[in-house]
Amino acid sequence: MARSLFRKKSLEQLQHDAALGLNDAHGTTALPKVLRVKDLTFMGVAAVIGAGIFSTIGTAAFNGGPGVIFLFLITAVTCGFTALCYAEFASRVPVAGSAYTYSYVTFGEVVAWIIGWALILEYAIGNIVVAISWSAYFNNILKAININLPDWLTTGYQTAKMNYDAAIEAGKPVSDLVYNTAPTFAGFRFIVNLPAFIIVGLITILAYIGINESKKSANFMVGLKIVVLAFIAVIGFWFIFSNGTTSNWSPFLPNGMTGVLKGVSSVFFAYIGFDAISTTAEECANPQRDLPRGMIYSLILCTIIYVIITLVITGMVHYSEFEGKADPLAYVFDRINMHKIGFVISVSAVIASTSVMLVFQIGQPRIWMSMSRDGLLPKPFSRVSKRFKTPGFATIITGFLVGIPVLFIDDKLMTDLTSIGTLFAFVLVCGGVLYLPHKPKGGGGFRLPYINGKFIIPVLTVLFVILFRDRLQNAFSNMQSEGYQEILFIVFVAAAIIISILTFIRNYSLIPILGVLFCLYLMIEIPAKSWMVFFGWMGLGLLIYLMYGRRSSKLAQAATAAARA
Ligand code: ALA
Repeated sequence: MARSLFRKKSLEQLQHDAALGLNDAHGTTALPKVLRVKDLTFMGVAAVIGAGIFSTIGTAAFNGGPGVIFLFLITAVTCGFTALCYAEFASRVPVAGSAYTYSYVTFGEVVAWIIGWALILEYAIGNIVVAISWSAYFNNILKAININLPDWLTTGYQTAKMNYDAAIEAGKPVSDLVYNTAPTFAGFRFIVNLPAFIIVGLITILAYIGINESKKSANFMVGLKIVVLAFIAVIGFWFIFSNGTTSNWSPFLPNGMTGVLKGVSSVFFAYIGFDAISTTAEECANPQRDLPRGMIYSLILCTIIYVIITLVITGMVHYSEFEGKADPLAYVFDRINMHKIGFVISVSAVIASTSVMLVFQIGQPRIWMSMSRDGLLPKPFSRVSKRFKTPGFATIITGFLVGIPVLFIDDKLMTDLTSIGTLFAFVLVCGGVLYLPHKPKGGGGFRLPYINGKFIIPVLTVLFVILFRDRLQNAFSNMQSEGYQEILFIVFVAAAIIISILTFIRNYSLIPILGVLFCLYLMIEIPAKSWMVFFGWMGLGLLIYLMYGRRSSKLAQAATAAARA
């Protein structure tokens, strides 16, 4: 049983299967090779800059103050390590499927399935968060032009119910709340987020129609959002220096690093997406050369933008004003009476989120396509539409998976789930690189520089333990009463020590190990209650694999056929 769970695909077999898939593996049609480094970089930026910077950054800035830029930098470094590992994989395994496919080569089938399942959290669940943020900004625009949709058509049922319960608990009046004012049908309150549903539908149609159309739209939207963000930066810095509001940057770390670290989930969410471009490997003209570059260029570009924008908003307005602000960028300009710019920001937030949704809505079906080719999902998931040359069935299913929940659901838990699921995939990609067969010199493509982690990793771990000794001590001495969060911290320290010992013995490469440790650290900073849901989701995935994928897997069938022969 254990052997069958960890059966692996060889690199050669994967490339061979992909070639078959491109030609006629399942009666399918080739995916057109149209993406180049510029398109990939743009696609990376398209997938990264969206709801994170326009919405979730507000709470992070409130907790961390201007010093939240450190969190952006730490997260950028974490993503940088991961991007280099993705780049190594993308250059060695240039087929669609991203982290899922990479795990199949290195860790074996069950881990690959688990990753594929976790990636649903990144792409589909991530898109739920983005669609809800899109809807909020879209509603702002409608209101600005005097179109007022009723609240019960622009709010998810769960959000309305949560706000109602919170108001009751706080003893606040509830008569005006949407949960009270919504119409009822057959005893149910009719409260749906219609704009979010409509945008998901439209994006699904675009993703279905074709990669070329999607590429052109993504390029256009990225160009526009970069121009708007540059404009915000220029006006913002001009305001800060001409009005002498640089004092808002002091204190820079009002709540210390503890306050900064409260923003992990939202800041990490803001970076999610640079890896999505690896799902388009089969549509790249030269994946070995262009995918690594596209990923790293987009990451650098986004980090610069994030740090600048964070400095701008925390310089224009005191960080303490960001409490509960879902539209921080628009807020700062409204606050200084530049209402027209607030409107421009709402428009650009809508455009930015649209491009994120588009890339994710393209990514999810391509992962399913790879899983289906391997027999882990039913065949229709790998069917490529003859007319539009996209994985049509999988694209439509993605549309439903994202579109239905956005009507009803609240986004807070979804943000955490997206971040945990993505970090989990990142840990396995970084770890997986260590198990890739040695690459001969001069083979072309990207090569991850090897730096021996033998001494550096143990030294860093010791430094970490010294730096966080108080937290560790507290966690141990109050073991009974500590929450799950501190137990996660102890587990992290234990994992870091084990990884250090292994690195010392096996001379592991520094960059992937740093990637694993940084990602694990960010993971344990995400609230423990979201971990419970994450475990539930992964448990469900494992059950489905044991009931379906384990038997229908191509490798399993090949093994059975070989045993019979
Ligand atoms: N990074 C993407 C965003 O912020 C998911 O919207």
